Amino acid sequence: MKFNDVAAQWNEIQANSSVEYLLSHGPYISGENVKTFEKEWAKFCGAKYAIGTSSGTDALKLAIQAIRWETWSGPHLSPIEAIIPANSHISSALSPTYFSLKTTVIDCDENHNMDVGKLKEYLEKTDNPKIVIITHMYGCPADMLSIKKILPDNCYIIEDCSHAHGATIKGQHVGTFGDIGIFSLYPTKNLGACGDAGIIITDNSDYLFRIGAFRNYGAFDRDDCQSLGWNNRLDEIQALILRKKLPHLERWNYLKYTLAKMYNEFLEGVGDLILPQLIERVFHIYQIRTTRRNLLQKYLKKRNIPTLIHYPTPIYKTEMFHHLNIDPEEMPRTEAYSQEILSLPIHPYLKTKDVKEITEAIKDFFNPSCLECGGHQELMENDNEGTHVCRWCIRKVTGETTDVINPTGRHRQV
Ligand SMILES: Cc1ncc(COP(=O)(O)O)c(C=O)c1O
Repeated sequence: MKFNDVAAQWNEIQANSSVEYLLSHGPYISGENVKTFEKEWAKFCGAKYAIGTSSGTDALKLAIQAIRWETWSGPHLSPIEAIIPANSHISSALSPTYFSLKTTVIDCDENHNMDVGKLKEYLEKTDNPKIVIITHMYGCPADMLSIKKILPDNCYIIEDCSHAHGATIKGQHVGTFGDIGIFSLYPTKNLGACGDAGIIITDNSDYLFRIGAFRNYGAFDRDDCQSLGWNNRLDEIQALILRKKLPHLERWNYLKYTLAKMYNEFLEGVGDLILPQLIERVFHIYQIRTTRRNLLQKYLKKRNIPTLIHYPTPIYKTEMFHHLNIDPEEMPRTEAYSQEILSLPIHPYLKTKDVKEITEAIKDFFNPSCLECGGHQELMENDNEGTHVCRWCIRKVTGETTDVINPTGRHRQV
């Protein structure tokens, strides 16, 4: 069983001949595929503009640069600060750091998105302009309507939609609520390239213009570099593949949502599991919570079921961001959840039988049957291994002899 299946996606889109044509004709950089994909993505999201980038991290960096430019007045540093989620991908913290922005971290709510109450508290503390990075975690949209209501005029929103391609709030696409929306198009994302890629959406033509320059060495026109730029363009070949995949996105999202629904049905009431909500959302990751996460992960591994943790180390606990000096007690949810979350396999090619196998394994973990005899009573648990053998069988395994009769009736004598 695979956690993800990018190869199956490749086979489905049948892009070999188009890729071959592109490779034998060119251009490889800044051609029609990038321009067309940008238009198609903007239209899909209901945004005015889209601009391709070399990755999601670069998209975040360019978005911050475009907003910071607006508030930067002269030789001194911009007073603009960044506010980031405690529970997100590391690039949420890296991107403001590239520009030395003072960075504040906010704990998450029970949906793993930024806690709006805590954001409000912080916004009221200082009058400095701020960029708030909102990540729609796992595909569940953050409460953008409440966030917009509490946002002062001198603050800006970048929505990180890297887990939420195609997700909507009351029918409106994520990424279009804030000033700028960014998407990673990393291969395993709901819309993913066959390599690194990203894209930005915005309704603001100034941002579009600036990002166009920053992603292309800082040159606003071809032969004159006017600003600090990078080489952060989207490749033609990736744009071509993304164009081939885009018509499938909504169906793939639907298939993943159906699998998530199935998981929820099969896992309801099992152990101490907390399951994701089936609201207006997409599923990039299907993620459960349990206080016995590490044991469960080990147990599933033994049964050849791959799992991941998104993310095991809160941003402020990584070595790079120790200097933010965050008191873990101020991040109670992020702290607790980072010990409890577990991502189960989910992708459009996962079968009902796979979900059954996974959920049966999880049920066995919480209501274990003896691995030797299959009996359910009087179980012994070997926590280090995450395996379960009943106390009659363990005697058999260790060579102890006894006349004890197993109350299940399965073991007369060992
Ligand atoms: C929420 C989020 N934002 C940003 C990124 C960075 O994207 P990339 O890997 O394309 O740079 C990721 C990557 O997984 C992500 O999950």
